Amino acid sequence: MVLVRCALFLFLCNPVCAVFQKLYCAISESCDCDFRPRIRDLEWDLYKNVYGQHLAQDIVSEAVASFLQNKSPDRPLVLSFHGSSGTGKTLVSSMLGTHLYGSAMSSPFIHQFVPTLHFPVPQRVNEYREELKLWVQGNLTECARSIFLFDEMEKMPSGLIDVLEPFLGPSHVVFRTNYRKAIYVFISTTGEEVINRLSVENRRAGRDREEIRLSDLQDDIAQSVYNNTSSGFFHSSIIQQKLITRFVPFLPLSRRHVERCVRSQLCQLDRCGRSDVVEAVGGDMVYTPAPGQYFSTTGCKAVSAKINIFL
Ligand SMILES: Nc1ncnc2c1ncn2[C@@H]1O[C@H](COP(=O)(O)OP(=O)(O)O)[C@@H](O)[C@H]1O
Ligand SMILES: [Mg+2]
Repeated sequence: MVLVRCALFLFLCNPVCAVFQKLYCAISESCDCDFRPRIRDLEWDLYKNVYGQHLAQDIVSEAVASFLQNKSPDRPLVLSFHGSSGTGKTLVSSMLGTHLYGSAMSSPFIHQFVPTLHFPVPQRVNEYREELKLWVQGNLTECARSIFLFDEMEKMPSGLIDVLEPFLGPSHVVFRTNYRKAIYVFISTTGEEVINRLSVENRRAGRDREEIRLSDLQDDIAQSVYNNTSSGFFHSSIIQQKLITRFVPFLPLSRRHVERCVRSQLCQLDRCGRSDVVEAVGGDMVYTPAPGQYFSTTGCKAVSAKINIFL
C-alpha cells in the first residue's frame, strides 16, 4: 500500500500532473505535500531579522541548504544551539519551521519537546526513554521529514536523550522508515560561559564580533555540554559519537542589538518613529561585565515588556 502511494506520489510530481498532485495532497495527509523548503527565504529571514548572530546565520543557512540539496543524506541533520537567554535561539528554530513547513510551530510534522513540560520528574527517566523512543520512531514512520525540537536541554534529565542515538547516526532504513531525512534541533544555555567569555575577550581586544569563528568555540562548547552535570548531554554518547552535525553558538547581544530589537518591535506597533523609547529601553537593560558593560544580561528577552512601560 505504501509502495503504491509512493509510486502515485512520484507520478504526480511530474509538472504536467500538477493538478492531480494538488488533488492528491488535498485528500492525503502525506508530509511530502506540506514540505516546501524555501531556502532563500530562510536565508533572507536569518540575515535580515536576526541581529548580531553571524555564526548562527552562516551555520544554519549553510547546513540546512546542503542537507536539503542532498536527496539521500547519509545521516540526519542535527543542530545544537547554545547561548544565553534572549539571544535568538527560539527565534531561529521557529524560522526553520516557517520556511520548511510554511508554519512556525503548528505543523503536525514539527515536534517540540520542553523538558519541564514533557519530562518533569527525573526519577521517571526510564519510562520517558521508552516513550520518547516510540514517539520519535512513530513520527518518523509517518513522516521521514519530521523536525524535532528539544528546547531547554539544560533541564533534560540526564540519560534520557541517549535513547535517540540510533536515530541520529548513519543508520540504515529500518522497517521502511528512513531515519536520515529528519532534522533535530537541540537548544540550551549550556556553553554560555565559554561563548560569553570569548565575546568579552574579543571586545576588550578591540576586535569586531564578526571575527569570532566557530572553530574558536566548537570544541569548548562540546566539552562544556559533555561535562556539565545539568546539560542533558552530560556524559552523553551522542556527544561521544560526534552525532551533532553542527554546534551553533549564539553570541551575547550588545546595546546596539537590543536597540534594533526595540526598533523592530516598535515598527510592528506602527511606532517606528519613537526613538525616545528605543533609547529608554536600551538604557534600562542590565549590561555585563561591570567594567565595560558590553552585553545585555537578558539579550532581547525583556524588550516587549519594557516597551510597554516606556511607550
Ligand atoms: N539576535 C536577535 N535578533 C532579533 N531578535 C532577537 C534576537 N534575540 C532575541 N530576539 C527577540 O527576543 C525575544 C526572545 O528571543 P528568543 O529567541 O526566545 O531567545 P532565546 O535565545 O532565549 O531562545 C524574541 O522576541 C526574539 O524575537
Ligand atoms: Mg528559547
